[in-house]
Amino acid sequence: MVNAADIERVLIDEQQIAERIKEVAAQIDVDYQGKMPIVICILKGSLVFCADLIRAMKTPVTVEFMKVSSYGASTTSSGKLSVALDILSNIENQDVLIVEDIIDSGHTMAALTEMLRTRRPASLRIITLLDKPARRVAAVEADYTCFEIEDEFVIGYGLDYAEKYRDLPYVGILSRSVYEN
Ligand code: PRP
Repeated sequence: MVNAADIERVLIDEQQIAERIKEVAAQIDVDYQGKMPIVICILKGSLVFCADLIRAMKTPVTVEFMKVSSYGASTTSSGKLSVALDILSNIENQDVLIVEDIIDSGHTMAALTEMLRTRRPASLRIITLLDKPARRVAAVEADYTCFEIEDEFVIGYGLDYAEKYRDLPYVGILSRSVYEN
């Protein structure tokens, strides 16, 4: 059970998330009509979002998982990508939709898309639950963004602090007392 004092406030509640996912899923259904994209769920943060998104979509999908992180990034390069878990299927000539929980500096997504493009997918798009444009360093933009947020420390609905809070059903702002001690 989460200590209520750990959460400063709820930023996006369950109903807002569900409604927005429904809207974006409907847009994706239009854009992918007649196609069966490969959805790549970026672990761990996208687990909850991806599960809700694919169920809100009518478009049939196959699902793959990746665990990646970027390092050595600078303003001029997207940096190196460390791949802890790769997808199992061949994406050549396939439509690929990357599902991310948050784009912050953009380094992870810039390096990931650069790497996946070398595998020659027919198309490569990004959907993110949250976008923090104020923090962007790498030039990367999602094709679908559910919510743009300010530069706050967000947790819940898949997002963690020290691996905690992923199981909260809403996106909340973490209390400073949790990470400043
Ligand atoms: C988070 C998030 C993105 C990345 C965004 O992953 O899921 O992949 O950071 O940051 P960036 O735009 O600055 O690159 P994290 O490494 O925290 O892993 P997790 O999803 O397993 O918590």
